[in-house]
Amino acid sequence: MHDMKTFYIKTYGCQMNVHESQKIHKLLESEGYIQAESEDKTDIIIFNTCTVRNTAEEKITSHIGNAHKEKRDGRNLILAIVGCLSQRDGVSKSLMKKFPQLDIILGTHNISEIGAAIENASRKQKTIEIVKERKLNPRFDNLTAPDDPTKPNTHYINITYGCDNYCTYCIVPYVRGRVVNREITEIESEFIKLFNSIKDREESQIIYLLGQNVNSYICPKTNKNFIGLLEQLSGYIKNSNSKLNFLSSHPKDFSRELADFIASAPEIERNIHLPIQNGCDKILKLMNRGYTVEDYKSKINYLRKVCPDVKITTDIICGFPGESEDDFADTINMVRDIKFNAAFIFPYSRRSGTAADKMSNQIDHKTKKARTTELIKIQREISNQITLGE
Ligand code: SAH
Ligand code: SF4
Ligand code: F3S
Repeated sequence: MHDMKTFYIKTYGCQMNVHESQKIHKLLESEGYIQAESEDKTDIIIFNTCTVRNTAEEKITSHIGNAHKEKRDGRNLILAIVGCLSQRDGVSKSLMKKFPQLDIILGTHNISEIGAAIENASRKQKTIEIVKERKLNPRFDNLTAPDDPTKPNTHYINITYGCDNYCTYCIVPYVRGRVVNREITEIESEFIKLFNSIKDREESQIIYLLGQNVNSYICPKTNKNFIGLLEQLSGYIKNSNSKLNFLSSHPKDFSRELADFIASAPEIERNIHLPIQNGCDKILKLMNRGYTVEDYKSKINYLRKVCPDVKITTDIICGFPGESEDDFADTINMVRDIKFNAAFIFPYSRRSGTAADKMSNQIDHKTKKARTTELIKIQREISNQITLGE
């Protein structure tokens, strides 16, 4: 038996992390632990971390610091750090140096071992372990996640792990590893289980298929592609209150066939997130994105033609190395031209180990911030106009 009974998970980052936190929650509950009401009233705090931008990292480190101080000052607490930040080269060492009383550090590939690590921690044994390859762990991977109380009608299912795209600014391939596609039968059985548990609810439900680049999905056993997977899954939810969506698509793999399929399938939500990242071809090339602004536009023009009620959202990075005022003007024009329903706009953040970090012509912090603020303002006006026009 373990004496430490209650846990609290602090989640940072994307839906992938939200979903993995739900699985940790489910796993720990099945082992007899209870979710605490708050961080202040718990025996165990688990930080499920993100490292996509420096700001995320700084925020998390300061939150860990606060909890660590309480433990150092005598609070009886197990502290665990898991996920993308701890998976980064050298981070577990530097965390231990800064916060010697941490009990557990696991990365993204061995997050499923959190249960055993907590058992060890209750016997005062530390588990500081980062591995290079994802350990497939059916007991964890196939767990059906419980509802997220803040978004009880939104559900997630992983279809792929990792990313092979190596966009030059991005740390994700380094911390999530090479692409691993789940088998369609596994996805299907998790989907059916989930759908059965939500199909009688009154409110409309939405199920997201998750991956870093969902439209490059290929089932390792059957060779079925992403459209095949969507076709199969949407068959189960016909005429129900559930809709399917997916995060994230990569524009280079967003085909006309996929647009046609979405148009033909009312089970798919008319809300497509398609990150363009920048509006200047020179920068897109430096980013290694594999498409031009024209390619992107022709894809979404086609999608809008076959699916007129679709809403398109995107991500944009401002101040990538070498981005001149003229290049930035291209992004402003692109945003004015495309009229996204919403855009998540962030200043470029240097990530050590990535190709863009080694580029010589880095943009200063002030300029990156100013461009971001300007673009957010422009996009906000566009989003408001669209909403007013509806
Ligand atoms: N796989 C997804 C998103 C992964 S990261 C995709 O390709 O769309 C989520 C978003 O964070 C990205 O779309 C990008 O806009 C942003 N991002 C990633 N690395 C960044 C960096 N170094 N600086 C600023 N934003 C970054
Ligand atoms: Fe990062 Fe690019 Fe992979 Fe998305 S597709 S996770 S932006 S490397
Ligand atoms: Fe962050 Fe990892 Fe997601 S770095 S954005 S939590 S994949």
